[in-house]
Amino acid sequence: MDVEREKRLAAEAAALLVEDGMAVGLGTGSTVSAFLPLLAERGLRLRCVATSLRTEEEARAHGLPVEPFMGVTALDRLDLAVDGADQVARDGWVVKGGGAAHTREKLVAAAADRFVVIVSSDKLVERLRPPVPLELLAYGLASTLRRLDAVSLRDAPPSPDGNVIADYHGDVADPAALSAALSAMPGVVEHGLFPPWSTSEILVAHGEDVERIVPGE
Ligand code: A5P
Repeated sequence: MDVEREKRLAAEAAALLVEDGMAVGLGTGSTVSAFLPLLAERGLRLRCVATSLRTEEEARAHGLPVEPFMGVTALDRLDLAVDGADQVARDGWVVKGGGAAHTREKLVAAAADRFVVIVSSDKLVERLRPPVPLELLAYGLASTLRRLDAVSLRDAPPSPDGNVIADYHGDVADPAALSAALSAMPGVVEHGLFPPWSTSEILVAHGEDVERIVPGE
């Protein structure tokens, strides 16, 4: 399996989904890095927002216009968002945040009418497994950590929003229950579990083919 080739194939398929005049959310990671030049090559008139400084810089270097997604005057909806993932299950549950960008990625995905996940075949898993990335508020951090089981701080810089990156290493057998429990925990800003209903389609490259998984179908 040529992972880089597969990332590019999935990225090519996603680039073809973008239409002239669209507002597009740009995810983060190496698969998105493959997507950006392919999108730029299409020469479309676009408005883009980025989920990380890395993506913003790469997008601009390829000539894509990136505007802020901060505050009340920013775009309030996107036509399409494209992002990679760390794990993809066939039932549509996705784990993201290996690059610590999951909070902004989840907001951009939620703003988009269509959220497309692009992955190489090594990301497809039978069942989700730990770790699940977390973003924690620094305020009250010791207390939050005491209330959370099986969580370790990641040796990573703070998020662009000033929060602490951590990972949950416990049981992931019931992602819906885990997602609800983490979301209900004060101090957890966001977690990297993306439910099936948040994703419109998952494009998985296998060798020379791209499989399209539509969660819920
Ligand atoms: C960033 O925080 C992540 O959600 C990435 O989208 C994810 O880790 C996939 O990255 P790669 O495309 O580099 O595998």
